[in-house]
Amino acid sequence: ALISLRQLLDHAAEQGYGVPAFNINNMEQGLAILQAAAEVDAPVILQASKGARNYAGTVMLRAIVGALAEQYPRIPICLHQDHGNDEATCLSAIQGGFTSVMMDGSLEADAKTPASYDYNVDITGRVARMAHWVGASVEGELGCLGSLETGMGDKEDGHGAEGKLSEDQLLTDPDEAVQFVRATHVDALAIAMGTSHGAYKFTKQPTGEVLAMRVVEEIHRRLPGVHLVMHGSSSVPQYLQDLINAHGGEMPQTFGVPVEEIERGIRHGVRKVNIDTDCRMAMTGAMRKLAQDKPTEFDPRKFMIPAMAEMQALCRDRFERFGAAGQA
Ligand code: G3H
Ligand code: 13P
Ligand code: NA
Ligand code: ZN
Repeated sequence: ALISLRQLLDHAAEQGYGVPAFNINNMEQGLAILQAAAEVDAPVILQASKGARNYAGTVMLRAIVGALAEQYPRIPICLHQDHGNDEATCLSAIQGGFTSVMMDGSLEADAKTPASYDYNVDITGRVARMAHWVGASVEGELGCLGSLETGMGDKEDGHGAEGKLSEDQLLTDPDEAVQFVRATHVDALAIAMGTSHGAYKFTKQPTGEVLAMRVVEEIHRRLPGVHLVMHGSSSVPQYLQDLINAHGGEMPQTFGVPVEEIERGIRHGVRKVNIDTDCRMAMTGAMRKLAQDKPTEFDPRKFMIPAMAEMQALCRDRFERFGAAGQA
């Protein structure tokens, strides 16, 4: 059986570790994550975006995750809606068997326009009330993700076109976070702490501190019962950029969030760490290599086997470094 985000992260908080939340769109990603978790005995958060539900179908995704739970009976699994944009998306996820939803009210329902604080409180509180009736957990988001280096807001957060943002605009305000959690009763809160979505987070190798740790620390101290979530947590490793580019890819040089920075975040109260881009790069790099090394190959399994292995290695590393290994 699947467990809720609340159950899973309460344990993480008690024991002081972080849980990677990997995005899932298909069976192969699910197998890679669960094989890694089984190797190191880690609990698992699988999250599906609206795009994932459109790609595979909600019924199909739920069935894949059900099969994974049956195949790996000792591993606790939470199935979470990533970036739900309205009530319908969140409630249909729960009805379809998800045990947790993110109501991302930092954006209007069109998912492009930054929302007002009142809109966010209103819609997130409404979803939380309904989700809690049926035992599902809720993650809210407060603030505007974006890079402190570039001053660029996250395009997925609707701030990409607004020009350079100040540090204040790029970080969640702790007073507002306290009010927001009191008003909405969310179980987990995504905060803006200097990260952004996608592969292109930083133009230079970040030296020193990438994350606004004082913000994390203060919110954690004032809201010890709410689990902090870090979006945009891919590290965009150089070895995966090299793997892709050595086999016909053309990704411009870029830098992600160093894993040491995530470890620092976990020490200060981050419990859920969202990772999609790194998994995509691992699979794509391995598939590109196979295509170039064996141009006569046309059995898709021959592409998927190394793709799953590369993603599995990535997932295993994150379970270990976030302290989730041994906690299943
Ligand atoms: O935050 C977004 C996740 O990386 C999911 O991306 O909407 O393309 O599935 P997607
Ligand atoms: P990345 O693009 O850094 O992997 O972030 C994923 C994410 O935050 C999903 O919600
Ligand atoms: Na957002
Ligand atoms: Zn996200």
